[in-house]
Amino acid sequence: MYTKPNKMHKTIIITGGAGFVGSNLAYKIKNKYPKTSLVVLDNLKRRGSELNISRLEKIGVIFLHGDIRNKEDLNSLLPYDLMIECSAEIGRAHV
Ligand SMILES: NC(=O)c1ccc[n+]([C@@H]2O[C@H](COP(=O)([O-])OP(=O)(O)OC[C@H]3O[C@@H](n4cnc5c(N)ncnc54)[C@H](O)[C@@H]3O)[C@@H](O)[C@H]2O)c1
Repeated sequence: MYTKPNKMHKTIIITGGAGFVGSNLAYKIKNKYPKTSLVVLDNLKRRGSELNISRLEKIGVIFLHGDIRNKEDLNSLLPYDLMIECSAEIGRAHV
């Protein structure tokens, strides 16, 4: 289910947030709701995704290195109001 981010969401987590979709979403949300605390979690598995981190940090987005399959990484995120899942291993099925 997708819940549209709004100003009531004080803290938003975007998993896979250093990727193409996640980082662009983070950028748009932070610009629209600058008071929202926005955290992106990414394992940086996709080469090049690390290049998006500095762009996000410049606008106040917090980057956390982590993996959605790791329970400890997910538990360390609490509390939050909304999580948007954007992580993926694109093309993995073709390897
Ligand atoms: N790019 C597009 O135009 C587009 C269009 C429609 C749908 N989608 C879908 O959106 C999703 C994301 O696509 P994208 O283009 O942003 O891909 P992407 O590879 O740019 O981003 C995915 C991110 O997830 C991270 N990641 C992978 N496994 C992880 C894990 N276990 N834990 C944490 N992070 C992890 C990667 O490091 C990467 O930064 C995919 O499901 C894709 O099919 C993309």
